[in-house]
Amino acid sequence: MSTIVYVLNGPNLNLLGMREPEIYGHDTLDDIAGMLEDRARELGLEIDLRQSNHEGHLIDWLHEAQSAGAHAVLLNAGAFTHTSIALYDAIKSIRTPVIEVHLSNPHRREEFRHLSWVGKAALGTVAGFGANSYVVALEAAARL
Ligand code: DQA
Repeated sequence: MSTIVYVLNGPNLNLLGMREPEIYGHDTLDDIAGMLEDRARELGLEIDLRQSNHEGHLIDWLHEAQSAGAHAVLLNAGAFTHTSIALYDAIKSIRTPVIEVHLSNPHRREEFRHLSWVGKAALGTVAGFGANSYVVALEAAARL
């Protein structure tokens, strides 16, 4: 198994920093990548961070994480979290541990965000700590 942790980000997360900052904060995805790279170095891990607005890319990357022997996947599937049985199946289809990540806490928000298909398949969830959710999830991944 490698020391690579895939950090997969779904729709609209390319707009982080500009997008509803009162909910998601001012950090951009590049800022988050920098925070993760610093912490990963301390933990003896490497990160491979990607973002796509397309569900199929996230599914392909989950499969790839397994074939690449990734240590773990951190997955913020954005709104696909709440709709995608295909992502649920993809997570179930691989042995690589997947940790669900959210900047906000979906349970404190609209009812339609309370169902998480990703959460039903993932090993665990970190949500509600803004950009730090990713760092906490990486720390959890390092202990697996
Ligand atoms: C999110 C929460 C989702 O409900 C939302 O659709 C997002 C971002 C989060 O990180 O808080 O796009 O995944």
